Formats: sequence, C-alpha cells, structure tokens
Amino acid sequence: MLTVRAPATSANLGSGFDVFGVALGTPADVVRVERASRTTITVTGAGSQYIPEDPAKNTVGAVAEALDAPARIRIDKGVRPSSGLGSSAASAAAAAVALNELYDRGRSRAELVPVAAEGEALVSGAAHADNVAPSLLGGFTVATDGGVTHVDASVPVVACLPDISVSTRDARGVVPDAASMDEVVDTVGNAATLTVGMTRDDPVLVGKGMEDEIVTPERSTLIDGYESVREAALEAGATGVTVSGAGPGMLAVCHRRDQRAIASAMVDAFDAAGVESRAYQTAIGEGATLYRDGS
Ligand code: HSE
Repeated sequence: MLTVRAPATSANLGSGFDVFGVALGTPADVVRVERASRTTITVTGAGSQYIPEDPAKNTVGAVAEALDAPARIRIDKGVRPSSGLGSSAASAAAAAVALNELYDRGRSRAELVPVAAEGEALVSGAAHADNVAPSLLGGFTVATDGGVTHVDASVPVVACLPDISVSTRDARGVVPDAASMDEVVDTVGNAATLTVGMTRDDPVLVGKGMEDEIVTPERSTLIDGYESVREAALEAGATGVTVSGAGPGMLAVCHRRDQRAIASAMVDAFDAAGVESRAYQTAIGEGATLYRDGS
C-alpha cells in the first residue's frame, strides 16, 4: 500500500487566470492505493458526501484510467469540494503520484500534470492544469499549453473559506468573453510583477501583482461579503486579496506578522455578512508527498 498527501492549491492569483497556481501548506487530501483487478474508490472526510465514488465520475477514476492502473483507492478529503482550494486537483494529484509509483510507470512529476488534469476535465469541463500543477510540484507554477514552469516559494497567506458553495462550472460562466487592450496591458504588468515577487518571496510584490480587472470583478459577485472581507483583510495588513481559484475561497497574501490579525478580520467580516467561514493561516508550500507503507 502507498499513501500520498497532496496539498490544497490556489489557482489564478488574480492576474494569472487559468495559468498561475500555488501549493498551500494546509489543508491537504490523503490518498491510499493498493493494486486490484479493477478500480474501486471510497471517499471520507470534508465534503465526502458530495463526491461520487463511481470511478467513471470521480477525478481519481480518470487518473487510474489514464495510467492504466486499477487499484483500491481510499481518499481522505482535507480539502472541501467547491471551495476554490483545488479539492478535485488535490485528489487527482495524490492519485497520480501514488498510482505512478504503485505500477512503476516512471512518469516525472511534470509528466503527471496532464494525467491529473484529465480528472479536472471530468469535474469542470476543461482540462486546465493550474491546480494540479502546484499540487504535484509545489511552490508557484505557471501552467500554459506549452508546459509547466515552477519555482519554490514560501510567501505567507491566509486562505479563508466561506460556508457557501460556488461550482467551477458556474464561476466559469461569468468569465467575460473579451477584454480591452488597456485591461490586457494592466494584467500583463500585474502578472509579471507577481512572478518577480514569487522569485523573491516578496509578499508586497505578490500582493500588488494579484490585482485583476478582467475576471475577478465578475467572480467576486458570486461570493457574499467579498468586498467587505477584502477591505477587512487589507486594513489588517494584507498586501493583496483575491478570489482563490473559482471561489468561494478568498486568498490574502501577507507578512507573517500580520497573518493572525488578517485571518480574524476575514472571518469577522464574513460573519458580519451572515456567512460562516474558516481561515487557514498557512504559506506557499510543498507539492505531493509519497509515504510507503508504514512510513
Ligand atoms: N482556473 C480555474 C478557474 C481554476 O478559475 O476556473 C478552478 O478550477
């Protein structure tokens, strides 16, 4: 038996829609696999009641199929589905690493990115890799049609998860079809600023570079309390705040010293908007970790 822990992730980071992603220190999914003649899946943990165990409908089933690796698969969810924290991607990444090892398929982490992205296609309709890439590789990732680029980073963040549900399909439905040249120029500038910030582990540059005028304003309307939570986080010292992935989670970047105050401010502001929430005080962290039986 093999066990893999794969982290939650935050995709987009405002200016990097469908391209940028980061691995978070917490929460994470844990997937256990054993060889079997056909794939079976059991799911426990956060939001497991909403996740199909039928391999034909589960992201992990798609990964097992893609690697031709039938197995008894147990998924312990730490990342709630429809959270904006890459729930399906964490399971898919963990399964890809585990099954690749279990069947000695010899794929590198980068080669597992498109495999795990197949699972994403099953749940969202699009095989984007901006969540699976950081869950597999860790740090900050840039996923394009040409491949994945990756740098280690450890910028502190607060990921605040309101107790509301926004499906990726719905959130993709509000993405504008077009943008003006001014918006594109601003976005390129912000994305470049963010990238430099990641290479320097600089929360100020990363926060500044998360600004986005194209997708985030539309998506934020799907999150009750978004503006007041964002304002509260910025007042408490956040260097940037945006929608995490497709939402409803929100991501604040910060200096470590302000993390606790920002987490409280975000939870309080959601509370004032009538929404319960939970804040993870964490940092950009490592990708999937493999444990052999007994380790
Ligand atoms: N880039 C994707 C989106 C991530 O924002 O729709 C969610 O899976």
